[in-house]
Amino acid sequence: MRILVVLLVATSVAAVDLDWWKTALVYQIYPRSFMDSNNDGIGDLNGITSKLPYLHATGVDAIWLSPINVSPMYDFGYDITDYRDIAPEYGTMADFDNLMKRAKQLGIRVLLDFVPNHTSNESDWFNRSIRREAGYVDYYVWSDGLKDENGDRIPPSNWVSTFRKSAWEWNSAREQYYLHQFVIGQPDLNYRSARLQQEMKDVLSFWLDKGVSGFRVDAVNRLYEANPDNYGGRYPDEPLSGNPDTNADDYDHYNHIYTSDLDETYDVVYDWRDLLDKYIHTHGEYKMMMTEAYADVHSMIRYYGTDTRNGSIPFNFSFLGEITKSSTAWDIKTAIDKWMTHMPTGKTANWVNGNHDNSRMATRDGVERVDAMNLLALILPGVAITYQGEEIGMTDGELSWEETVDPQACNTDDPINYVKKSRDPCRTPFHWDSSDHAGFTRGRSTWLPVAANYKDVNVHNQLIAKKSHYKFYKDVGRARRRNAVKYGDLDTRALSEDVLVVTRLLPGEPGIVAIINLSDQVRHVDLSTLRLLPTNLIVIASGVDCSLEKGAGQLKQNVHMTAHCALLLQTREKCC
Ligand code: GLC
Repeated sequence: MRILVVLLVATSVAAVDLDWWKTALVYQIYPRSFMDSNNDGIGDLNGITSKLPYLHATGVDAIWLSPINVSPMYDFGYDITDYRDIAPEYGTMADFDNLMKRAKQLGIRVLLDFVPNHTSNESDWFNRSIRREAGYVDYYVWSDGLKDENGDRIPPSNWVSTFRKSAWEWNSAREQYYLHQFVIGQPDLNYRSARLQQEMKDVLSFWLDKGVSGFRVDAVNRLYEANPDNYGGRYPDEPLSGNPDTNADDYDHYNHIYTSDLDETYDVVYDWRDLLDKYIHTHGEYKMMMTEAYADVHSMIRYYGTDTRNGSIPFNFSFLGEITKSSTAWDIKTAIDKWMTHMPTGKTANWVNGNHDNSRMATRDGVERVDAMNLLALILPGVAITYQGEEIGMTDGELSWEETVDPQACNTDDPINYVKKSRDPCRTPFHWDSSDHAGFTRGRSTWLPVAANYKDVNVHNQLIAKKSHYKFYKDVGRARRRNAVKYGDLDTRALSEDVLVVTRLLPGEPGIVAIINLSDQVRHVDLSTLRLLPTNLIVIASGVDCSLEKGAGQLKQNVHMTAHCALLLQTREKCC
């Protein structure tokens, strides 16, 4: 009997894959726009559940859901009223439990968006704080403000919101200003309150106990602002950035030295990591944490942790921010090298091509580079993050000023230039097929208009086409499961301005080679300089612009690359 027990324990421990997250393919779902199950024109949880088989077939390891909690939706869910309940337009807790159950059956992990910097101004905590109820008085960042030379009340500092205009809003009930780094309806929480810190940990525990596999942490570098105690009791003004394209209401008009990337932020993240790490022992699962901070690489890298503390995976926005239609192979190599060289040894890299806040990859980098950018994200070491629709090359939708709902665009008050700021174009409904509303809803209308090209660019078309972005993405996703891609060494070379080669080699395993031709001309690629690479290669994934098809054998001296071709090859012999 004792032997049997020991064996059972040994088997269950062996079956647990604590490293699942290190090479996860994470798929970001923007719930409002993924799939509508109840015909109200807004995506919902049951819609997502109905599409889990699609995500499973696509090869996704984990889904990250943008916020699904109760919210007045001033910032479409990033303004949370109740962290422990589901927004009624997205469904119920029973729907969420069902989603979790189905996802588990399919081996898909679920990550939630954790929004720690601010709540909605409709939240119970905020109302209690307004009323100065015991325990809640300092849950938010409050200030009396200043007096100008006429004795009139003015905000405590020149800080502006990310979405423009003063970041301070007067609350007449409490007779103080509160800080909001985003919309007026998103009051900033105060992490100098120990009680608030515990409250947020309890929120994490609530969802971890429900079985989620981790979190994407929103706007993490905004958790702290300069402490007035260190500045003579005042909130210090931020210096001007000197950016000539801005005015005093614009976020980019200032250098945000007092409102972002403050040192105290990192300890909070490490504390959350400790909390998540406890689940390794209690639930036998490593819980993932990815943090969002648009910051310089040095500030970002600190999220990974220290010699003594574990941290998170900071999103790597270098593809998203630095690569464009005109980037050369050298530029892309530089972006890859930047992360790989700054990242501390032994940590996990990650590659982000898009999200719900930025112009879509196909629009930013060009439709002809969709396969190339998907290939890179999926074949480089570490975590790959795909924003919904990138696997089929969805482009930005077009919206008139009247149709615009994103607060970042609305706050420009500019019916001409709002487009530059608008995040609506990357949030338009997902394209499932060529039917009305792209198969997103059977209702009469959609919360944002469907992009005009949905009859061309949709999942159904790409499933029946001989070649498509989707089929290529899936083939690359399959190759991603090979040991050479999971554990192999990385070699990145720009053979010229146009040709980028990424090699993943692991002794005893076939090597994996990605070749990208960025130009609109044929290129004959000679891989002889890759000395360790075996000579005979076979094509395992062929982008829509390639003439070489899957199964084609190639010698490494002369690989035929048609214009804009993104190709994945495997060596016939084991490496090296
Ligand atoms: C993050 C989110 C964005 C949101 C903001 C405020 O940047 O990705 O959508 O508006 O935080 O929560």
